[in-house]
Amino acid sequence: MSTILINNREFDTYIEYPEIEKAIDKVAARINSDFRGCSDIPIVLCVLNGALMFTGELMKRLDFNCVLDTVRISSYEGTRSTGTTSTVLGMKSDIRGRRVIVVEDIVDTGRTIEDLSDMLRNKGAAEVRICTMLLKPDIYKGKARPDYVAMEIEPKFIAGFGLDYDELGRNTKDIYAIREK
Ligand code: IMP
Ligand code: MG
Repeated sequence: MSTILINNREFDTYIEYPEIEKAIDKVAARINSDFRGCSDIPIVLCVLNGALMFTGELMKRLDFNCVLDTVRISSYEGTRSTGTTSTVLGMKSDIRGRRVIVVEDIVDTGRTIEDLSDMLRNKGAAEVRICTMLLKPDIYKGKARPDYVAMEIEPKFIAGFGLDYDELGRNTKDIYAIREK
C-alpha cells in the first residue's frame, strides 16, 4: 500500500497491477471467445485519454483480426461528471456496417458510453459492444450492463493506470482511490 499526491490530494493504492493484469486476461478471454474466427474485421475503439493503457494491454491479448481507432470524449471536470459529453477528436474509420468494440477506462453514470453508442449507431455501425476496465455499479444509470467489464469498484474517485485527476496521475501502474477528507 502506498499514498501518492495528485494535485495536492491524497490517493491510496486501490488495485495493484498484478490484479489489473489478471482482470484484463479474463475480459480478453471473453472477447476472444465471442470474436475468434469472425469473418469481419471489428474496430477496437479506444476512448482517449483514459483508456490508452487499458487498450494497449487488451489489444495484445486479442487473437482475431481487428483494427484500432481512437475517439476523444470529455465529460469530467475534476472529480465530478459534468453530465454532458463532447467529442473533442473524432475517429478516422468509416464504421458503416462494421462491428465496434468501444474500450473505456471507467463507466460511472454511463452517460459517455450511451452518447458514444448513439453516435456510432447513427454513423451506421452494425453493432456496438462496450468493454470497460472499471464499472461503478452503484452509480451506473444505464439500461444494460456494459458487455465486458474487467472490474467492478465502489463509488470512489480513482486515478492511475490511465485515469486522471484533472489530467494528472495517469502515469502509474497501480490504480489509486482518493482519500475522503
Ligand atoms: P460517465 O459518463 O459518468 O460514465 O463517466 C465516464 C467518464 O468519466 C470516463 O470516461 C472517465 O474519463 C471519467 N471518470 C468517471 N469516473 C472517474 C474516476 O473515478 N476517475 C477518473 N475519471 C473518471
Ligand atoms: Mg474516459
